[in-house]
Amino acid sequence: MITRTQVAIIGGGPAGLLLSHMLDLDGIDTVVLERQSRAHVLRRIRAGVLEAGTIDLLRAAGLGERMDREGHPHDGSAIAWEGRPRFFIDTKKFTGKAMMAYGQTAITEDLYAARDRAGGEIIDEAVNVELHELTSARPYVTYEKEGQSRRIDCDYIAGCDGYHGVSRQSIPASVLRTYEKGYPFGWLGIMSQTPPFPDLCYCYHSRGFALASMRSPMLSRYYIQCELDTRLEDWPDERFWQEFKARCPQEMAAKIVTGPSIEKSIAPLRSFVAEPMRYGRLFLAGDAAHIVPPTGAKGLNLAVSDVFYLSRALAQAYKTPRLGRRAPVVVVDHAAAPVSRRDAVRPARAREPIRLSARFGARAGVTGRAICRLAFRDVIETAHF
Ligand code: FAD
Ligand code: PHB
Repeated sequence: MITRTQVAIIGGGPAGLLLSHMLDLDGIDTVVLERQSRAHVLRRIRAGVLEAGTIDLLRAAGLGERMDREGHPHDGSAIAWEGRPRFFIDTKKFTGKAMMAYGQTAITEDLYAARDRAGGEIIDEAVNVELHELTSARPYVTYEKEGQSRRIDCDYIAGCDGYHGVSRQSIPASVLRTYEKGYPFGWLGIMSQTPPFPDLCYCYHSRGFALASMRSPMLSRYYIQCELDTRLEDWPDERFWQEFKARCPQEMAAKIVTGPSIEKSIAPLRSFVAEPMRYGRLFLAGDAAHIVPPTGAKGLNLAVSDVFYLSRALAQAYKTPRLGRRAPVVVVDHAAAPVSRRDAVRPARAREPIRLSARFGARAGVTGRAICRLAFRDVIETAHF
């Protein structure tokens, strides 16, 4: 089966889903190919701290409602040094910008919900994804789903498939340059369904670093620095809490509410950058192009920033006929026997009302979608990452 879209997006993590959503706001059609099941993607526990630029962009793209209801705004964070009293850095006061604790899992849920509402095409459990003809004007992607080989013809491919994805590896070795730095330690992190410590607090201690963070009023995230060869089985919850408390000031330790962990993992700390981020019609975004250690709470924010710039560039390309071609969304060859509704590419007709309302909605002063698009345009003018 061969189908056609304008932008084929590899990876249904936050970068891929957000790009799909933002291009849709510009009337650009996408298909997202995700290797894992949706349930698996939604189970992954990762980032939790959103910077001001990310918060603004999510709001402007119509994705801020739940974040503003359930997220936890932060004016800054605290630092504690060798058990001495905490020192609060009021970033809001000095920069005018606040952060937000809101889990990547929740953002991913919001993105899936938004794509579903808009009838977006997300093909999960797509295996053996391969990218072809990247330097031609007619790139395409092949993959397998339920044992069937499939192909998507497109104008552009967005590689949003994280560090282990196939997109970066599709850039020839003679072109790709990578830079890497590994650190001789990792972070042992746990998530517990307990009320978090009120401030994001970074603790330096000669026993090792520790961090108190949060996802929601009843979901706490704690980390301790660990050796790279640390084994999870050697760290029952009791030992974790004991070690965490030993690394923070006593008055802070006394306030930490402990409880059974619902997740426990080790993240090795490393930095990785690949260039170029563009090869022909392939564009990398997010962890596919760069990994930063979790220390800075930066990775998701960088991915959002990449998506912001890439979505603007693609929108521009489609507005400038010389650079981009408007590709109708049609099934160009439908050799396969009946396909499930989910996997069938929607015919162009089905999308037309959306395009029209988006194009003319502002003048008519109607749809929420159009309002969202205008707000989005404003943020494009002002976004700073
Ligand atoms: P990913 O989330 O990796 O998504 C890529 C997707 O592509 C995945 O769904 C994957 O299944 C899919 N995929 C892979 N290969 C293929 C293939 N061949 N075909 C199809 N699909 C494929 N960042 C922050 O900003 N703030 C934080 O507080 C923060 N804390 C973190 C804490 C931890 C413990 C960790 C590990 C990371 C943290 N990060 C944080 C980083 C953040 O989670 C990542 O930067 C972010 O997930 C990047 O999003 P992405 O969409 O680029 O990649
Ligand atoms: C997190 O909550 O995962 C987190 C918070 C702050 C950081 C790093 C990670 O600096």
